[in-house]
Amino acid sequence: MADPRPIGVFDSGVGGLTVLREILRRTPGEATVYLGDNARAPYGTRSDDEVRRFSAECLDRLVVENVKALVVACNTSTAVALPELRRRYDLPVLGVIRPGASAAALATRTRRVGVIGTPATIRSHAYFDAVKEENPAVEVYEHATPTLVPLVEAGHLSGPDAEAAVADALAPLLGRRGADGEFIFPLPPSTQVDTLLLGCTHYPLLRPVIAAAAGPAVAVVDSATATASALAELLAVNGLEAPAGPGTELLHRVFTTGDRAAFAALAARLFGDDFPVVEAVELGAGRP
Ligand code: DGL
Repeated sequence: MADPRPIGVFDSGVGGLTVLREILRRTPGEATVYLGDNARAPYGTRSDDEVRRFSAECLDRLVVENVKALVVACNTSTAVALPELRRRYDLPVLGVIRPGASAAALATRTRRVGVIGTPATIRSHAYFDAVKEENPAVEVYEHATPTLVPLVEAGHLSGPDAEAAVADALAPLLGRRGADGEFIFPLPPSTQVDTLLLGCTHYPLLRPVIAAAAGPAVAVVDSATATASALAELLAVNGLEAPAGPGTELLHRVFTTGDRAAFAALAARLFGDDFPVVEAVELGAGRP
């Protein structure tokens, strides 16, 4: 059995493109529809009720596109709304937290993992629970970094401002590195992590800056690759894979509730020029 319908991918903004990129690599025969709710991003500083309502509105819109599966490529939405979203649709709905947690639990050698995410994700302790489920012996240090999503949405992915913001955001968890590369405020060895999990799909866009701030002793992992693998498995198990072989050209569509040009500019940094035209969509009757 084969199913040519597209996969729906949702994020509050551009962060989910990091997951989309891995989905296109892992399952190149699948059509996709992406929706970024940029007009209402960031979600991570909103109430749980708002995150649930906005997420459902976005997924409702993707369902109109006749998708065969939904990927919630937003940690905040996964952390707060996934069970409810799974009840809402008669479709497989995949989140990003379990795949990321399992990648981190496999990566750590010292069994100490740091997780950074939005305030809503960290407040939910969804990563703490998911990593512990993978391996109860792993210590999980959670830390909210609310300044990073606005940085990414504004397109500041490198340079001195991004470096300073990332260093400030990571200092409570990792210490702070001086110009000579040494930590100025080293944390007690008993709390030093060897793995940093990027618990927000926006953060891989800052990966070079984050990795430089974290230093070579810390492995930086995210959920994008693991989520794409989980999706491939989900499609296979459910008989939902796209028909094999040459067929009509694959359709990839991209919607944003925000500024189309700003979205396209950021997408070009990730995908190059080979990116679909960004289409505007309005949700929630234009409610901010
Ligand atoms: N990229 C999202 C996440 O993974 C949302 C960030 C936000 O809108 O605050 O949490």
